[in-house]
Amino acid sequence: MDHDHVISTRELSRAAIERVLDRAAEIAADPGAVADRHADRVLGLCFFEPSTRTRMSFEAAIKRLGGDAIDMGGVDSSSVTKGESLADTVRVLSGYADALVLRHPSEGAARMASEFVSVPLINAGDGAGQHPSQTLLDLYSMREFAGGLDGLTVGIMGDLKYGRTVHSLAAALTEFDARQHFVSPESLRLPRGVRYDLHESGARVREHESLEGVLGELDVLYVTRIQRERFPDENEYRKVAGEYRIDAATLEDARAECVVLHPLPRVDEIAPDVDDTPHAAYFEQAHNGVPVRMALLDLLFDGANGGNGEQSPIGSAGGGRDR
Ligand code: CP
Repeated sequence: MDHDHVISTRELSRAAIERVLDRAAEIAADPGAVADRHADRVLGLCFFEPSTRTRMSFEAAIKRLGGDAIDMGGVDSSSVTKGESLADTVRVLSGYADALVLRHPSEGAARMASEFVSVPLINAGDGAGQHPSQTLLDLYSMREFAGGLDGLTVGIMGDLKYGRTVHSLAAALTEFDARQHFVSPESLRLPRGVRYDLHESGARVREHESLEGVLGELDVLYVTRIQRERFPDENEYRKVAGEYRIDAATLEDARAECVVLHPLPRVDEIAPDVDDTPHAAYFEQAHNGVPVRMALLDLLFDGANGGNGEQSPIGSAGGGRDR
């Protein structure tokens, strides 16, 4: 592979993850030091699905590094409406930009697209598959708010079947000494393939249908939205919508130090009264998307420059797991 792509956290080693988080911490402490660092770089944003945080924080990140972004815009205003394939679209856009960020409704789309590009490609969500840059900011936030990653007990609640942030996070946490408790209705359990990978990696995981009984053990409660748009049948969505909701009263049974995270957007799974509790950290988590994505781009661009002759530092070409 000629370039370093960030497609799945299954391919990110502990060392690669820590490299991004450490660099993000340096950048957050002194953003002025990198204000012109990538003044000649252009980032291509290709979003085939809606996004607020991922799209805008990547745009903010490249601009805060001194570079610029070009945006394909909505699918409706692009030549996708004329029937252009994803492969042709990204092949062309990779000639306009130094890296591409791709969100697409089909699982596997980012991996396929990476075969057709001549610059690094970051998967910003492929259907119910993966969302690796979200995981990096989730881990950064856990490290910041819970004091580290080793030794953490993490509860992950909500739509574990379709939630790509869940699949990415679960895989990444296997690189750390963390316990994972998955809380969902039976119909939204983790997919078999994700459970198999967790089992193979020796992860310490348990599954629950209720938060009751496990909440008091958690250092982090990671709440997710039920992914309505991915349900083939609206009636199936209605059966589970609103079932996994927390409010300030729920958190009376949590440890005082328990941090509540959410990749956002939320619908009604976290009541607004949680925002005023000391547990709520999801807005700071979203803000962490900028320094973390600055760090990711910085390391990818350094890798694309040859990185002083070393292997590229992140993703499938250079930061992969040794298994
Ligand atoms: N967390 C996340 O991916 O948010 P957006 O869909 O707004 O990008």
